[in-house]
Amino acid sequence: MPGYKLAIDGPAGSGKSTISSLIAKKLGWTHIDTGAMYRAVTLLAIELKIDLHDEASYRFLESAQIHYDFDRIYINDRDVTEAIRSESVTQNVSLVSSFPYVRKRLVELQQSAAKNGNIVMDGRDIGTVVLPNADLKIFLTANVEERAKRRYKENVKKGKQAQISQVIEDIVIRDQKDSTRKESPLRKASDAVELDTTFLTIEEVVNKIIELTDKKEINHGV
Ligand code: CDP
Repeated sequence: MPGYKLAIDGPAGSGKSTISSLIAKKLGWTHIDTGAMYRAVTLLAIELKIDLHDEASYRFLESAQIHYDFDRIYINDRDVTEAIRSESVTQNVSLVSSFPYVRKRLVELQQSAAKNGNIVMDGRDIGTVVLPNADLKIFLTANVEERAKRRYKENVKKGKQAQISQVIEDIVIRDQKDSTRKESPLRKASDAVELDTTFLTIEEVVNKIIELTDKKEINHGV
């Protein structure tokens, strides 16, 4: 796999997508947000009115094109970047992403998208399953109140109404589902660097990871 592969994992609201996108822009690398891909599958499944609990009904993925490019996500060339952030998608995405069939399809897509070039990929299983040989693996954390506060601020900015207590509950439930599922649960890879971002600004986290990237380059002689 030519190029530098940076894997960033962590729980809901730990800042993975924002930070990965900024790192990619600063370094001129390609960012792939795998959470957006699972959300896109969830959106399509809801639109197709399939039985979300029946793994066999996700066969529609055989012909669906899901594509992440420059921080936009597309289903069959339709831009769904805003639509995948809806309440119904957020509530169902952990269920949809628990099915081995769905994961297999998306992991194939992710690995093929990461083949060439310098890549920052963020998700839940990047360091453990998708890019086990990544040059650098980061596991981002933050306490649940801080993560909920960030998500709440994002929602307010987008004009969405939500109680902070509701946001905390949603995050706790999603963390629980993501880290206890059988297939590729959210977990820190043994060789990942853990970064607690509770008291760090976005810029501090971005700079810290870029610093680690430089060090790894020297170590690997890339
Ligand atoms: O809301 P947030 O940005 O934290 O989550 P996301 O990155 O958009 O991911 C949405 C959901 O997709 C997660 O809660 C997981 O259930 C699932 N996911 C996954 O299973 N594996 C990944 N590599 C990425 C996301």
